[in-house]
Formats: sequence, structure tokens, C-alpha cells
Amino acid sequence: MTFDPEQLAEHDLRPLRELLLDAGYRTETLAGHLRLHPEMLLADTARNSLIHGDSLGSSPSAVLGRLFLLCALVPVPEVRKLSSSLIQALYGYNLVRADAAGRHVVGNVTITEVDGFYYVADRLFENTSGAVGVTISSDVCMPPHASSFELAKAISVVSPDSSVLDVGCGSGCLSLPLTASAGLVTGIDTSSRAVAFSRANASCNGVTARFEHVGWEKFDSPEQYDLILYNSPDERAAFEFVNDGLPRLLRHGGRAQVRLVCDIHAEDRDVQGAVRRMTNVGPQFDVRVLAPDDSLFSLGRDVLAHGGRPARTLLVERHSEWQAYVDSLRRRGVVEVASIILDITRGRPGPSGQ
Ligand SMILES: C[S@@+](CC[C@H](N)C(=O)[O-])C[C@H]1O[C@@H](n2cnc3c(N)ncnc32)[C@H](O)[C@@H]1O
Repeated sequence: MTFDPEQLAEHDLRPLRELLLDAGYRTETLAGHLRLHPEMLLADTARNSLIHGDSLGSSPSAVLGRLFLLCALVPVPEVRKLSSSLIQALYGYNLVRADAAGRHVVGNVTITEVDGFYYVADRLFENTSGAVGVTISSDVCMPPHASSFELAKAISVVSPDSSVLDVGCGSGCLSLPLTASAGLVTGIDTSSRAVAFSRANASCNGVTARFEHVGWEKFDSPEQYDLILYNSPDERAAFEFVNDGLPRLLRHGGRAQVRLVCDIHAEDRDVQGAVRRMTNVGPQFDVRVLAPDDSLFSLGRDVLAHGGRPARTLLVERHSEWQAYVDSLRRRGVVEVASIILDITRGRPGPSGQ
């Protein structure tokens, strides 16, 4: 990973947003061109890059989409059609480079537009001349994607003086839009790249939020929060946070929304049973389970019992990993996989103060 987001975050990036807006770089426009729902375009960009990489065209928004969303190579003459100030900004902020032969331009980052906000983040794959190569690294800042949207849709309304904590903030895509309605927005992440990208994205979108490079375990918070969000990397991380992090970080009367992909075992009976088995919080925490419809991260009992594979799934990065994934679920006695949001409210303190 050669791109340095810390350097990007040192700039005032508001002009970048203006230039992207002027170029008409909107997800809706790109999705309309491809006859896709905007969310489906963002949900699985690697697959869409493979299928639609060549069909976006060469308008300014399409060139930006090919560079920063579909992670494809774009011939130099097509990039020259962008406004000179945008080209200058893209090179000036090191967001693009020329390929070795000097014939194509390659993005160094992704840039995703969601509801008028622009999010710069790492690239998770590269489409080099029709072949998509996945790049996985531990310290990576994930661009907004299907899991982010599942949680974003469930976020509860915040009041103007409320404080928000975005655990595992990634690109900042969950918390930056809340800066308009909440009092104080704080994001934390164990990835230094995520924190730097979040800071850059706050600057790009002209909003104020505080981002810290720290895991929730060591986050020495001066306060408790009214709303806590966590789009967790996995089930274990999610329940550890719920059991050990919420009692310390969630204010009495506050609410937490934690998204995870939950394995359901035969003895659990259903997802509620799995959540009961894994949660260990006191009675003042009311834990409700929300399950987004048609999640690309869920796997029904039938599929797991009888084999086969859903037409589309985001449960594995590569198609070749599918059988090994299903075998490991069966070995562990998992009968169903459900993408869920734990919607947790904390009651007012009882007489003991708990
Ligand atoms: C699935 S990504 C979500 C990113 C972003 N919130 C979104 O929805 O697009 C999970 C994030 O949690 C971060 N993370 C993992 N363990 C963490 C911990 N213990 N404390 C804080 N962040 C953590 C990862 O670095 C990653 O950025």
C-alpha cells in the first residue's frame, strides 16, 4: 500500500469536492448508465468492474468512475478530457499516477459518492485489462460498501446535542453525514489508514468530526455516548464490543447499533437464540435484533443443508473460496448465517447506579 493518507489529510480538501461535483461524479449517474440500482453498483464493485468495466463511456463522470470506483486503467487521452483544474488536483493530491508504459492513468485510491458526500479510501482490487485482482491487507481503509449501507439505513435519528461514537470508522461514511444533525461526532479505528482517510474525508466534505487511532478496548473516553455505531469486522469482534465495550461507553438512555454477520447453530433454534448465547450484558440493556431483507451476507438453512450457492453473495471475497467456507460452517455446526443489526438501548440507572 504505497498511497499515504496522512499526507492527503494535511490538505484542505474542500476544492476536491467542488471539482468532483462540477465533473458530475455521482453514483446515481454511473448506475443509471449501467441500468443498475446505485446500491447494487457500490455493493459489489469488483464484480461490476469485471462486467461493466468497458461500458461506462468516457464522459468526465465515467472517467472518474472507471478510475476510482471500478479501479480500472484509463487511457491518457480520455483522462485529458477532464477539466485542467481537476487533473491538476488529482495529480497534486497524488490520487492518480501514470502506469509504467505511460499510456494509462491508474487511481491510487477509491473515491465513492454517497448522498452528496465523497469518501476517499483504499483500493480493495485492481482491474488490469479485464482481470480483477483482489488486494487484501490488514491495515486497510474499506470504501463504503454493502455492509456500510445495511447499518446506515438503520441508524436512528439523532438530536442536535447528542454525541456519536463511530467504532471502526473506516472511511467515516457512517458518521460524517451525522455531523449535520448531531452535536459531537467521534470516530475511532485500529487502522491508522482509516483514521487518516476519515480526517481527509471530513475536510473534503467540509464537516467537523474528531478521529482517533485507537481500538475501543484502549479508548480512554472522557465521556459516554448517546449513539454508538459499529459495523463490525466479524461476529467475535461484535459481541466482545457489546459485552465489554458498551457498559463503559454507552450512556444510560443511549442507543447502540452494531452490525455483524451471525452464525446460527442448530441448538440456537433461531437468530434470537444465537444472540442470547453470545450476549452477556446486564438487564438494563435491551437488545433487539434487526435483519435487513435480502442481505448479500446472509445464507439460508436450505442452501447450507442442500448445497448450491446463492446467485450473489458477499460472504467470501473470491468465488474459489466458497466451498471451503461452506465446509467450515458445516464442521462448526452452523445451520444458517444472518446479517443482523443489534439495536441496543440502555435503560436509566437503577437504585444501585447500574
Ligand atoms: C467492516 S469495517 C467498517 C468500516 C466503516 N465503518 C464502514 O461501515 O464502511 C470494520 C472496521 O473496524 C475496524 N476495527 C476492527 N477492530 C477494531 C477495534 N477493536 N476497535 C476499533 N476499530 C476496529 C477495522 O479497522 C475496520 O476499519
